[in-house]
Amino acid sequence: MPPIVSPSKSAVVICKMWDRKYHTAPDMVVIEGPLAGGHLGFTRDQLSALGADTDDVPDTYKQSEYDEEIKKIVAVVREYEEKYQKKIPIVTAGGIYTHEDVMRQIDELGMDGVQVATRFVTTEECDAPRAYKEAYINASVDDIVITQSPVGMPGRAIKNTFLQGVGKVPFKLEHCYKCLEKCDPAKIPYCITKALVNAAEGDVDNALVFCGANAYRATKIETVPEVMKDLLGE
Ligand SMILES: Cc1cc2nc3c(=O)[nH]c(=O)nc-3n(C[C@H](O)[C@H](O)[C@H](O)COP(=O)(O)O)c2cc1C
Repeated sequence: MPPIVSPSKSAVVICKMWDRKYHTAPDMVVIEGPLAGGHLGFTRDQLSALGADTDDVPDTYKQSEYDEEIKKIVAVVREYEEKYQKKIPIVTAGGIYTHEDVMRQIDELGMDGVQVATRFVTTEECDAPRAYKEAYINASVDDIVITQSPVGMPGRAIKNTFLQGVGKVPFKLEHCYKCLEKCDPAKIPYCITKALVNAAEGDVDNALVFCGANAYRATKIETVPEVMKDLLGE
């Protein structure tokens, strides 16, 4: 699995450590930006500085500032490409939804590829339950929020009955899955595993419905070939 980095500092730390400890460099690097879905590799403050933690991200996101971060990551990776004399493809992820988005990453930022998740959730082929896909289709831009996960990271999800109740509705742990070493069941506002299992089972009112910042743009269920054609500009 390639390293997934968000702020440039994480690229520096990972490349340095792999070099020093294992005398190698990654075979590929994924840069996951602040518009991505699920757990994010930024602090709340970093997301806020990039305008990516509001309920209205398309208006507030400072794309050019994160582009600068991407360029810093590219510079770090190029150093290790040089040192190990190998090509290290770099792929960007987060908020890539249209052909224009794909081409911007490739033409303007020189990326080798893109990673797309949110756009494919609302496809026939995606194995998420119908109710999960409908939560995307029914979401408006300000239904997409940043929440603090018990994992200790911010995460992007759809504001639903479950999220509105977090911290307000008393939480009682029914069963501990012992999934996280550092999780203290006495202190968490909800169980992350249970919230994600409910999502996977389609109980979306009682689930953490992870999504990327563009989930509100889905208006219908598509097929993967349709989405691919659109992304490729065919
Ligand atoms: C529902 C959902 C769940 C995700 N879960 C994970 C995960 O478990 N691990 C991970 O590294 N990335 C996860 N991601 C992030 C994606 O792998 C991807 O990099 C990112 O969402 C791309 O941005 P996009 O959704 O705007 O296309 C998830 C994304 C979504 C939408």
